[in-house]
Amino acid sequence: MIIGVPKEIKNNENRVALTPGGVYELVKYGHTVLIQQSAGEGSGFVDEDYIQAGAEIKPTIEEVYASAEMIVKVKEPIASEYPLIRKGQVLFTYFHFASDITLTRAMIDSRAICIAYETVADDDGTLPLLTPMSEVAGRMAIQQGAKYLEKPIKGRGVLLGGVPGVPPGKVLVLGAGVVGLQAAKMAAGLGAHVTILDINMKRLRHVNDVMPPHVVTEYSSEYNIRRHIKNHDLIVGGVLIPGGKAPKLITREMLKEMKPGTVMVDVAVDQGGCFETTRPTTHENPTYIIDDVVHYCVSNMPGAVPYTSTLALTNVTLPYVLKLANMGWEEACRKNKDLGKGLNIVDGAIVYEELRSLFPEEVA
Ligand SMILES: NC(=O)c1ccc[n+]([C@@H]2O[C@H](COP(=O)([O-])OP(=O)(O)OC[C@H]3O[C@@H](n4cnc5c(N)ncnc54)[C@H](O)[C@@H]3O)[C@@H](O)[C@H]2O)c1
Repeated sequence: MIIGVPKEIKNNENRVALTPGGVYELVKYGHTVLIQQSAGEGSGFVDEDYIQAGAEIKPTIEEVYASAEMIVKVKEPIASEYPLIRKGQVLFTYFHFASDITLTRAMIDSRAICIAYETVADDDGTLPLLTPMSEVAGRMAIQQGAKYLEKPIKGRGVLLGGVPGVPPGKVLVLGAGVVGLQAAKMAAGLGAHVTILDINMKRLRHVNDVMPPHVVTEYSSEYNIRRHIKNHDLIVGGVLIPGGKAPKLITREMLKEMKPGTVMVDVAVDQGGCFETTRPTTHENPTYIIDDVVHYCVSNMPGAVPYTSTLALTNVTLPYVLKLANMGWEEACRKNKDLGKGLNIVDGAIVYEELRSLFPEEVA
């Protein structure tokens, strides 16, 4: 199969869909891999690395789309890519169709085969192609929070680990899922005192089992949240209600209870955020202040660490790319139910049930 990897052109997106190691695997199975010139540069891979691994470099995005039977990407295609997509071409990438009717219509019109990373699902409902990005964001939340706690950037001036004779900072983590667990782990590693809240007792039991004693679990309730926000320095929001909007666990009125310079990192911003005062920010301008509380609400946190994020993402996508290339999309999706759940739009028809109910007017 001919597999094409265009350079990501979405604003501030530096990840790439295949590493040289991934190219090597595909070439080993007899496939041809076309990489757009400089596609890997943002993630630290130069064209020469890809050539050594057996790829062909194509100077333009048009040449990649024109020759490839399957396009592997990171983010959804943007408007300038729509005319390049061909009938029957397989696209394997994050799409997030539910939040973009224009993209959905464009992909219906293209009659391509759209397989979305975000809906590939294991039998137990876990989303293997989303997990690594939550791991990155959870760990980053503490790194960013620690930075914004510094006084020159309007934080409280607290060093999370403390020093001998001075107690460590206090971190409150809302949600003990993938983001929450990774955030708690990083904060604990720095020596901070960590409180982690969830409504799922199974998750709290797990955290309690695997974390050191200075990570304390508690049931998530408004009462407990009100009690803790008064004396915590960094608050991380990592809650998720699958398929729904994040609950607003910290209201505007509650900010007045916090110490000036408290930092709130809302990782759940992509699902609407779990703080009432959350609004999406970018890596160029990641924070804003309301009532002396610093808010960090970047909706693509992994984009700031493209080297790590690319490796983390491609570790989980490559086995599926190989299946699609070796068997063709129909057989690969039939034989692998988890991959089959990634099928969203096929030859002009929406085939993913949730998307059909979201956009009934697009269903023929
Ligand atoms: N900003 C970014 O760049 C970025 C990157 C990756 C993930 N995310 C987002 O982070 C969020 C969390 O992702 P995840 O993978 O950790 O999800 P997850 O499903 O693994 O964990 C979410 C947790 O929230 C808990 N929860 C639900 N309601 C709660 C409540 N009222 N109080 C406390 N806990 C509650 C759930 O029980 C669950 O344990 C998602 O919205 C995800 O899209 C954002």
